Amino acid sequence: MKISIILGTRPEIIKLSPIIRECEKLSLDYFIIHSGQHYTFNIDEVFFEQLKLPMPKYNLKVGSGTHAEQTAKILLGIEKVLQKEGPNIVLVEGDTNTVLASALAASKLGIKIGHVEAGLRSYDRQMPEEINRILTDHCSDLLFAPTEKSRKILIHEGIQENKIFVTGNTIVDAIYQNYKKIKEKSRTIDCPGISKNNYFLATVHRQENVDNKEKFRGIIRGLNLIAAKFGLQIIYPIHPRSLKQMKLFNIEKNNLHLIEPLDYFSFLELEKNARLILTDSGGVQEEACILKVPCVTLRNNTERPETLEAGSNILAGTNPHNILLRTEYMLKKSREWINPFGDGNAGERIINIVQKNDESRF
Ligand code: UD1
Ligand code: UDP
Repeated sequence: MKISIILGTRPEIIKLSPIIRECEKLSLDYFIIHSGQHYTFNIDEVFFEQLKLPMPKYNLKVGSGTHAEQTAKILLGIEKVLQKEGPNIVLVEGDTNTVLASALAASKLGIKIGHVEAGLRSYDRQMPEEINRILTDHCSDLLFAPTEKSRKILIHEGIQENKIFVTGNTIVDAIYQNYKKIKEKSRTIDCPGISKNNYFLATVHRQENVDNKEKFRGIIRGLNLIAAKFGLQIIYPIHPRSLKQMKLFNIEKNNLHLIEPLDYFSFLELEKNARLILTDSGGVQEEACILKVPCVTLRNNTERPETLEAGSNILAGTNPHNILLRTEYMLKKSREWINPFGDGNAGERIINIVQKNDESRF
């Protein structure tokens, strides 16, 4: 059986790393295709280097563009490689344009699709990721739901029960596999004066936030209110999209400490030691929950409701005062919640299921 693992962005590299490790461990016949959706060193290659992942056999180098341009280029490129290689299954993770385009290409060639992190829904159709998730789930043959909640969502949408497997989220595997290494291997973080529990960490990059001047401004104001109120630094490793938009909208960072995007070990260390995390990232909401750091989500919805139920996370939207109020609320709460995302063996479970379902497309 030949497996094709397709990825294209920072979170996909991180969340597929446990699956790639498992393929290596079992000496499976597999290869990696990189769409090239992310290409800047610090949101792409650094993760291959640090997580010691084999370099992709193919890199389509599609780069940035409009949604249609990017999705179309990936679709065309993936089709060519899949026709040449003839894998039995492709594995994709998450909700990016790379995921949707790869699933479409495979589906039309009659190649089985395994979707890692299936069944997440924000119920906000204005998010490009929501459309990508729904369409990918509905053309997948094996759906790896991280939690029972995501399994129920899929069943409710009419997806056959026997295609769905609750596996846990591979982000737990990624944290457990790498956590021990953070002390020795993280690179120097350019944040003088910070110490454990003595700073806030922020990440903001969602299209609906940073491409909207009012929302982005609201978030930056909210972060500055927090910095002023607590007299602590807010460290913001800034995604290239957000940096571009900040310059375009002439938004002043004021008291925020902006730094380059970080490698995984350094970022985990910064997350673990933060007093609280403010984010609109999907993966960061999960990691905060797993690492037992309170989280304030700078959105009005989340496809990770498990974190809200666990009590690790709260929705704050983009209004500055709400962001401050929710932060104050979360800081008073105890950190004793239970991680709902599994035991850290999702990668092993997923590969096991893939091997057991070694027949042609359903
Ligand atoms: C993409 C995903 C998003 C995911 C995020 C992870 C989609 C629709 N969006 O968003 O779900 O959360 O990745 O980080 O698939 N850029 C660079 N260097 C790069 C890549 C991008 O400078 O290596 C800049 C370019 O100006 C580009 C912009 O960032 O136009 C946005 O990149 P893009 O890949 O379109 O979307 P992300 O915002 O990264
Ligand atoms: N991350 C990182 N360095 C950073 C910021 C984030 O390694 O400077 C990691 C983070 O630990 C998480 C993932 O990137 O695993 C989240 O990716 P992102 O926020 O870009 O995408 P999303 O999860 O929202 O799709």
